[in-house]
Amino acid sequence: MAETMLAQSFLPETDRMIELVLELKRQRNAVILAHNYQMPEMFKIADYIGDSLGLSIKAAETDADVILFCGVKFMAETAKILNPAKTVLLPTLDAGCSLADMATTQKVDEIKKLYPDAAVVSYVNTTADVKAVSDICCTSANAVEVVNSLPNKRIIFLPDKNLGRYVQQHTDKEVILWDGYCFVHDKLNADILMEFKQRYPDAKVIAHPECKEELLELADHVCGTGGMAKFAKLDGSKNFIVVTECGMTEKLRQDAPEKNFLSFCNICPYMKSTTLPLVLRSLIHNVHEIKLPEDTITNARRAIDRMLAVSKNAA
Ligand code: 13P
Ligand code: SF4
Repeated sequence: MAETMLAQSFLPETDRMIELVLELKRQRNAVILAHNYQMPEMFKIADYIGDSLGLSIKAAETDADVILFCGVKFMAETAKILNPAKTVLLPTLDAGCSLADMATTQKVDEIKKLYPDAAVVSYVNTTADVKAVSDICCTSANAVEVVNSLPNKRIIFLPDKNLGRYVQQHTDKEVILWDGYCFVHDKLNADILMEFKQRYPDAKVIAHPECKEELLELADHVCGTGGMAKFAKLDGSKNFIVVTECGMTEKLRQDAPEKNFLSFCNICPYMKSTTLPLVLRSLIHNVHEIKLPEDTITNARRAIDRMLAVSKNAA
């Protein structure tokens, strides 16, 4: 025993923390779900790493007692909505999302009055309250499918105007845009990307649909982070320019080490606010536990379940 203790005390701090997290996870029958943008050390403690859609599906399927989210608040809230009886933990309240904060229920009510025949489609990057007043949710992976699945001719799409415009270009429906954006993607500059492309002419450009239209026009493939992982694996190219949050490139390098991934990216401070010490604290002290009013859960669940049904039918 003393020998084990001695050996452990010589482990580098990160490895030691990873061991502790894994041990606590076992003790508490917890599952750790991590988004693709997380820091690489989070990939070592996660049971599943993926995009918003994949994380929602995993959260719906899990039989763990505790779900710990290495991601942002709207993702942990989605897990709580799908698992009201389970403990859902978000290691830090700094893990918000400024895009999600750009939509409020009051503004949804106002716009619904202007277009009473329209369906409200809300990106999962919204608060639980906004989901609760929406007809259906979507992610970057299924936004077009979700919109096309609806009987309404008119769609209020919120809160990301760039993703909304991308959907507009891939549907016959009338899509009313919301004036929201993700600053991480929206400030990526098309002229600079053009220079990158000229410097690496054989590289395929893969871009997230939260980027501006002029930037998406330069991309070979537009998709969410889950689509990027699939495309990079299946496409025959050796070199890729990855246009999204910086963490994605790290994930792609781990998944396909034989290929080259160049980052054209910004950092999301919300995604990077989760650290190993905070995960440890969260598992030990149950912070921060996601709690939502019952009626919010019931109403938001309807919108999320509808989205999951569309994705299941399309699979
Ligand atoms: P994905 O669903 O594509 O992983 O995107 C989530 C997100 O927050 C993008 O900024
Ligand atoms: Fe929100 Fe943008 Fe960060 Fe995604 S990258 S969590 S949309 S701020």
